[in-house]
Amino acid sequence: MCGIVAATSRKRDIVPLLVQGLKRLEYRGYDSCGVAVWDNGLKRARSVARVAELEEQIKHEHLHGEMGIAHTRWATHGEPLVCNAHPHFAGDEIALIHNGIIENYEEIRAELQAKGVVFSSQTDTEVLAYLVRDCFHGDLLKAVEDALNRVRGAYGIAVFCKQDPSRVVVARQGSPLVIGVGEGEMFAASDTMALAGETDNFIYLEDGDVAELLPESYKIFKHVGTEFEPVEREVRQVQAFSNAVELGPYRHYMQKEIFEQPRAIADTLEAVREITPAIFGDQAAEIFAEIDRILMIACGTSYYAAMTSKYWFEAIAGIPCDVEIASEYRYRKSVPNPRTLVVTISQSGETADTLAALKHARELGMDKTLTVCNVATSAMVRESRLHFITRAGVEIGVASTKAFTTQLTALFLLTLTLAKINGRLTEEEEAQYMTQLRHVPKAVSSVLALEPLIIGWTSRFADKEHALFLGRGIHYPIALEGALKLKEISYIHAEAYPAGELKHGPLALVDESIPVVTVAPNDQLFEKLKSNMKEVEARRGELYVFADSDTGLSSSEHIHVIRMPENYGALSPILHVVTLQLLAYHTALIRGNDVDKPRNLAKSVTVE
Ligand code: F6R
Repeated sequence: MCGIVAATSRKRDIVPLLVQGLKRLEYRGYDSCGVAVWDNGLKRARSVARVAELEEQIKHEHLHGEMGIAHTRWATHGEPLVCNAHPHFAGDEIALIHNGIIENYEEIRAELQAKGVVFSSQTDTEVLAYLVRDCFHGDLLKAVEDALNRVRGAYGIAVFCKQDPSRVVVARQGSPLVIGVGEGEMFAASDTMALAGETDNFIYLEDGDVAELLPESYKIFKHVGTEFEPVEREVRQVQAFSNAVELGPYRHYMQKEIFEQPRAIADTLEAVREITPAIFGDQAAEIFAEIDRILMIACGTSYYAAMTSKYWFEAIAGIPCDVEIASEYRYRKSVPNPRTLVVTISQSGETADTLAALKHARELGMDKTLTVCNVATSAMVRESRLHFITRAGVEIGVASTKAFTTQLTALFLLTLTLAKINGRLTEEEEAQYMTQLRHVPKAVSSVLALEPLIIGWTSRFADKEHALFLGRGIHYPIALEGALKLKEISYIHAEAYPAGELKHGPLALVDESIPVVTVAPNDQLFEKLKSNMKEVEARRGELYVFADSDTGLSSSEHIHVIRMPENYGALSPILHVVTLQLLAYHTALIRGNDVDKPRNLAKSVTVE
């Protein structure tokens, strides 16, 4: 949700570094982008095209400087127009970039207008830039601190001013921000990946932190009431990898990430030698002994991972489990139970709603918290007492794929751990499940080999505007995830239903024009599912069925069947979802969509 990079150096032109950083952060938003530098005055280049085009523009305009800030935008306030693109200037004095939302910007805007400010954009960010200018009396750090005392909302910002152009001030509240410590130069960015190759020394700022960066030094202050007090933050050695940004032989990151799943799952399992609470943290044994229910909180794809695991927790571990959408949970009056294990699931660990819901649960007295996350240094991991870090590797495609299957892997490990504690897992069962888990990467590879058959279906999908997805039991959330994947990258309206619900309404939609994708594992609900498929067939619906090989289902006039290589029992959702990812990917491809950067979306949703 917007990416920011900033750098101040005494030894080089930092524009190439800023552009490189933007390219690596483009996954966070791509409605517009821009760079501002100090070059005997505030200079900037902004574009509503992609960073590659901005780079050309920068060459044309000969933008150079030893200090600068850069931004890639996911629009919140104001359309994706050049005038709304960051960096925003306040006159010729202040330049500012921002990731987040300033909630009270309208009242500040009106106040500044009354003082004669004429705004050139519809953004909350430009208001913040002018507010900093209004607070400026010779000291940029003080001006930023005073301005931040006036605003409500979420921000990661970087600011510089003409009076002191080697100094960059950055601040964080609710949006990720790291400082990169170089030699004779300092950097800041939304994600360490933006600075890969520039430094391995990073400081993860905390909410409320403001920092002042000069080429040779930095100072950090934390917000206490309305004051800012000096604070030390640990410098961590992190090897930020930029190779995740290389596409290799793939056309898109989403395709690369789908095919990386066997590796991602294997890596996630690698650190696990045996089923023991310790894999979730030192305090896990003690915490798990004190819980008798689970509350899972997440958004989007991560929410569907949570929904899937509810079936495991209740069936295998015998623990009641509730699943909540974070943006709903955080605002509704619920009944807290301190004996609840609160599990947040997030690829990024920065999703604003999930983070707020986690804090909300804690405020309600539920402090037994565990986060399943793909980013070890994220806010959510830091806010939780326990965690499990999936090892999917950086996920760049906006549509989540490998993060989902590694989340499921982690949640299955949690299920086995709790089942063991509850005396519901014999040694023999544990060994069987572990063997099955370790075989998942190979099983996923066999599913990936179905790609040509799936491509064969997609031409029939490409001209549709609607699709239905059906599943039952633990495969219902998988149908939901399949529908989400299809809608977000192909823009085909897709809905998922538990197949038994069809006759209670959605069957009215079924005719020969609507493809009905069915997830058909050979489980105890298969016969019921077959009856639901008959209901579709009788209405001349066109069924596209992913069926386990031992179901005996085969294609006929209006039923198209792709057989899954094997029936995978409890872990079957991890295999079935892969077919739906491929279906969405290839359908979007035929429709000519930008698969990795679907319209209106961005990775890492750090605003409400
Ligand atoms: C869909 C997708 C989103 C995310 C959601 C939560 O493909 O990626 O629905 O799953 O925004 O993000 P995280 O997992 O980072 O909290």
